[in-house]
Amino acid sequence: TELSRIRNFSIVAHIDHGKSTLADRLIQSTNTVSEREMKEQLLDAMDIERERGITIKANTVRIEYIADDGELYVLNLIDTPGHVDFAYEVSRSMRAVEGSLLVVDSTQGVEAQTLANVYQAIEADHEIVPVLNKIDLPAADCERVAEQIEDVIGIDASDALRVSAKSGIGIKETLEAIVTRLPAPGGDAAAPLKAMLVDSWYDAYLGVVVLIRVMDGVIRKGDRIVMMGTGGKYPVERLGVFRPAMQNVDELGPGEIGFFTASIKQVRDTRVGDTITHEKKGADKPLPGFKPSVPVVFCGLFPVDSAEFEDLRSAIEKLALNDASFSYEMETSAALGFGFRCGFLGLLHLEVIRDRLEREYDIELITTAPSVVYHLFMKDGSQTELHNPADMPDPSIVSHVEEPRIKATIMVPDEYLGDVLKLCQDRRGIQLDLTYAGSRAMVVYDLPLNEVVFDFYDRLKSVTKGYASFDYQMEGYREDNLVKMQILVNDEPVDALSMMVHRDRAEMRGRAMCEKLKDLIPRHMFKIPIQAAIGGKVIARETLSAMRKDVTAKCYGGDATRKKKLLEKQKAGKKKMRQFGKVEIPQEAFISALKMD
Ligand code: GTP
Repeated sequence: TELSRIRNFSIVAHIDHGKSTLADRLIQSTNTVSEREMKEQLLDAMDIERERGITIKANTVRIEYIADDGELYVLNLIDTPGHVDFAYEVSRSMRAVEGSLLVVDSTQGVEAQTLANVYQAIEADHEIVPVLNKIDLPAADCERVAEQIEDVIGIDASDALRVSAKSGIGIKETLEAIVTRLPAPGGDAAAPLKAMLVDSWYDAYLGVVVLIRVMDGVIRKGDRIVMMGTGGKYPVERLGVFRPAMQNVDELGPGEIGFFTASIKQVRDTRVGDTITHEKKGADKPLPGFKPSVPVVFCGLFPVDSAEFEDLRSAIEKLALNDASFSYEMETSAALGFGFRCGFLGLLHLEVIRDRLEREYDIELITTAPSVVYHLFMKDGSQTELHNPADMPDPSIVSHVEEPRIKATIMVPDEYLGDVLKLCQDRRGIQLDLTYAGSRAMVVYDLPLNEVVFDFYDRLKSVTKGYASFDYQMEGYREDNLVKMQILVNDEPVDALSMMVHRDRAEMRGRAMCEKLKDLIPRHMFKIPIQAAIGGKVIARETLSAMRKDVTAKCYGGDATRKKKLLEKQKAGKKKMRQFGKVEIPQEAFISALKMD
């Protein structure tokens, strides 16, 4: 296809503002698929994505459209992941296109997530066309939302499109705007091949499918290619485009977006952002900006039923094949048995993986409290990463500890602002900015990631009755007074309950934890001290008093069935207990104690 007849674009939107519905409409109205083939929400393939209303894997579709000027245009839509955990994936797919439709719900206005993604689009030099969606609803307020787009985002919204993706209003105008307002791609067909790896996934029939954007040169079926970042070399077996079903083509030239397969065994062998060129007469320099994504949040995953460990192992291995940003290694915990320490891009990524393990593989899991990666600077000058608080070395050999910080953007209706500021302050936040857009406030905070991975999002939702929107980006590492807090039950340290805390908050945390454990651990025949300690110094203490008599003594001997029931219940309860020195701790105590409120 001639470059001047190609338009590549993505759709930027906050969750539920209508991205998928609009994409479906564009596809439908150009007869890219027949009505019969048209499933609702075509672009969101996975069940979990659909249910949670998020898009994880970038998908793409090639739309052919005859514009008002009578010419046939090829419009390539790349669907970007909507969540901040996948910021790097978003930035890559943004680099693969020249323009964006910015979809904003005209009854709601701009949200924090919209901002994060729109900034990525601006950074990628996109031409941006604002689309005010849901104008069929009586609450639509296009004037106000257009003004807000100008105030908050700072782009011209005077000729924003007015659309109802649901009832099909403004769809034709949107297609025309894509053709007339977005730029055509550049590129040189005669130059050595440079194609960007935008995404890849595993297909049961085809193996690994690689989504690419050709920048320069031409890729043909049968070519021998090399991935410049990983060094992998492959012959191109199948080349094609998505309409949205796969359709084979013989070649893809500059500006085009399509896929290839090449007997690549696992998704891990392909890295988003890598440059693909020819093995012979290839490009000498890769495209700029390639970086493999690194996990920032770690947690332990253990099977509730220890007999399911092998099932968990095979499920995790399978998921990892398809997700290069998910890492895992085996872990043993005296309290929880055998499991895995897993690394994720963020909390949502963690939740998605955990959900898939539970749902698709039917394994019940215990998730330990998420922890971030700390940088440890040792007195001997060496430096290491700490993924698990239990592994924190003796403080006497550690010079200092650095923790990851984030820049969080929160948008919230005025009346909840006070609560949000308090929450951020309580979490060791530093306020960077506070601005208003109408009756909504936008606050920007510098926060320790550690304080956010715990339960920040839940708290934020509850103090704002669900009205706040939240987004964050990693800001780098900073030193702080961080220590490992240990929990001792009957004078024995329980590793699964260790956590890194700020020194100033340690007492509070320790006290809360001991109080909780006191309720969660059943009484024994002896007194049990429950303590929180930092490097040998006890900072909080509770005592679980001894049980005077056998539980069944209460039953006065008379009621035999009641006595039997009680004993059975005790026996069933035993199974889920873990022996700790002389103390038995119920499994659920480990989870509940770590979930602080
Ligand atoms: P995610 O896929 O979750 O990121 O959301 P999305 O932005 O793709 O939103 P989606 O298209 O799933 O739409 C969210 C909800 O808004 C759905 O219930 C749609 O039916 C509804 N919706 C989308 N467009 C319109 C519209 O123009 N008018 C009305 N009334 N509802 C709409």
